Amino acid sequence: MLIGIPNESGPGQPLVSATPRSVTALIKLGYQVVVEAGAGAGASMPDAHYEDAGATIGTAAEAWGADIVTALGAPTDAQLALMHPGATLISRLHPAERKDLTEALTARRITGLALDAIPRISRAQSMDVRSSMSNIAGYRAVIEAAAAFGRVFTGQVTAAGKMPPATVYVIGAGVAGLAAIGTAHALGAVVKATDVRPETAEQVESMGGEFVAIPVTQESADGYAKAMSDDDTLRAQAVYAAQAASADIVITTALIPGKAAPILLTRDAVAGMVPGSVIVDMGASAGGNVEGTVPGKAVTTDNGVRIIGYEDLPARLPAQASQLYGQNVVNFLRLATPAKDGQLVLDQEDPIVRGILTTHSGDITWPPPAIKVSAAPAPAPAPVAAPSVPPMKSGRRR
Ligand code: NAI
Repeated sequence: MLIGIPNESGPGQPLVSATPRSVTALIKLGYQVVVEAGAGAGASMPDAHYEDAGATIGTAAEAWGADIVTALGAPTDAQLALMHPGATLISRLHPAERKDLTEALTARRITGLALDAIPRISRAQSMDVRSSMSNIAGYRAVIEAAAAFGRVFTGQVTAAGKMPPATVYVIGAGVAGLAAIGTAHALGAVVKATDVRPETAEQVESMGGEFVAIPVTQESADGYAKAMSDDDTLRAQAVYAAQAASADIVITTALIPGKAAPILLTRDAVAGMVPGSVIVDMGASAGGNVEGTVPGKAVTTDNGVRIIGYEDLPARLPAQASQLYGQNVVNFLRLATPAKDGQLVLDQEDPIVRGILTTHSGDITWPPPAIKVSAAPAPAPAPVAAPSVPPMKSGRRR
């Protein structure tokens, strides 16, 4: 079968869904590959490198007209019109939000596989594009914060005087949060982190951070948080505000699937931060975790706190993000090409395949039946009493 890699580059989208390295792996699985001219340019991957890897370079019609198309996002109507009935589209299809796209795929008898719906089970980790993009975004969030912060991250004693380490507070210790903790720790900062799911404490510590408990605990059957009650929200916000007031950098990553991002830092909490502090609000595209965030922009508050609300953090590391995305695609196709003969086999008994299949043979197959995932915690602990959290020690003059 022929796999098409379209050129989706445009303003704000430098990524590509396959790299020369992942093309080599696709060819080893028995596929032929056509790459639309210029597809990898934004990620510093010239056409010649794809040719060296064994792909042919073609037009948009050739790439979108392949048996299988791998892409980064939802196709436009014009792109969809280039696809053949019976073809397969592997991309981030947002099936929960984009019912119109699901219907359009069905009408054209295109099989849709939504990579953004890969279930969070350990066997599927290597195919999980949300995790790989969040990981890269968490890393980049720290780099953005470091660039906006007027001081060093690593403490040093120099002939000219002592420089204290930066203090970083991460709220939400999921994929992006853990990557941010590890990156900030590696840069020499003192790192603290909070999550509503107590099972993350050990992971925070393994990345070099100190876990700050908040007075709410959540049982998680699927690795995701649930919305909190109003009382819990207020108690948690008090902890976030106290920690933020003594931190140089705050990175917010709290996500409740299918809901607007929860507000973690209120306007008052931001007003309580020291001038020169930096917040990176990773929830910006879902409405923001911080009051005052402007999605897509960096703004400075009246009290001199920089709030960064960039929504394109993976795109700020285009070569790395494309490599991970391309590898996720290869890992899925390894599963779906059991004979390594270039023939796609969709085994609907497999929870990964079934979990991401949105349309097939003219039918809508979304949502899939619920599956039990491995993120379920040990028996639910009793809610903890409000802890007294010592503020972070910062050597910085306030
Ligand atoms: P995740 O689901 O792995 O982690 C979110 C964490 O937040 C979970 O551990 C959850 O328990 C925790 N959480 C939820 N509510 C909380 C609260 N009130 N207090 C403390 N912790 C809370 O999600 P992931 O993949 O790490 O993504 C994090 C955020 O980053 C999402 O909003 C995602 O959309 C965003 N993101 C932003 C990008 C950008 O370019 N700005 C790129 C990639 C992801």
